[in-house]
Amino acid sequence: MTQRVAILISGGGSNMVSLVDDMTGDHPARPVLVLSNTAEAGGLEKARARGIMTAVVDHRPFGANRAAFEDKLNDVLDAARPDLICLAGFMRVLTEGFVTRWQGKMLNIHPSLLPKYKGLNTHACAIAAGDAEAGCSVHEVTAELDGGQVLGQARVPILPGDTPKKLADRVLAQEHVLYPKILRRVAAGDRSRLDLP
Ligand code: GRF
Repeated sequence: MTQRVAILISGGGSNMVSLVDDMTGDHPARPVLVLSNTAEAGGLEKARARGIMTAVVDHRPFGANRAAFEDKLNDVLDAARPDLICLAGFMRVLTEGFVTRWQGKMLNIHPSLLPKYKGLNTHACAIAAGDAEAGCSVHEVTAELDGGQVLGQARVPILPGDTPKKLADRVLAQEHVLYPKILRRVAAGDRSRLDLP
């Protein structure tokens, strides 16, 4: 049975595009919704150009009331009946209630070699620490921020003179390879770990 995938974005959606463009042919999943917390997300137009239903639930009117914002998210998600949810540059912290509602069905890509550098500014942290390498991780989403089971990682070297932007671009290219591979496996029922060479 083809798995229905909803993708949550907040920005340009390059990871969303990689996931969507891979979901063809014998892929066990298909995208059914691209949902953003802001109408300004550039990824919305890319999704529409690919014929995918889009929706916006602006978080700003809800202020600090995360639960009310997430209730609206759930209304839109429930209508799409996703089997899996992929967070792809979705920049809102989700409450334990929302994560529990979708426990086991939600994946995220984080731009660090977890468990190192949870949260923001991962590339600056890796450079400042003098690490030899950086990378990205796809993990199951749990109530602990960036804390769920890691399903796969991809690594890149940190080069002399690297800025956070240069490193981010190098990591992003690997995100676009890793995330589709992991989604394809999870949609086929395989949650074993896959680390890219
Ligand atoms: C990427 O840097 C990713 O690591 C992080 O948010 C950014 C998403 O970029 N989760 P895009 O919107 O997928 O292009």
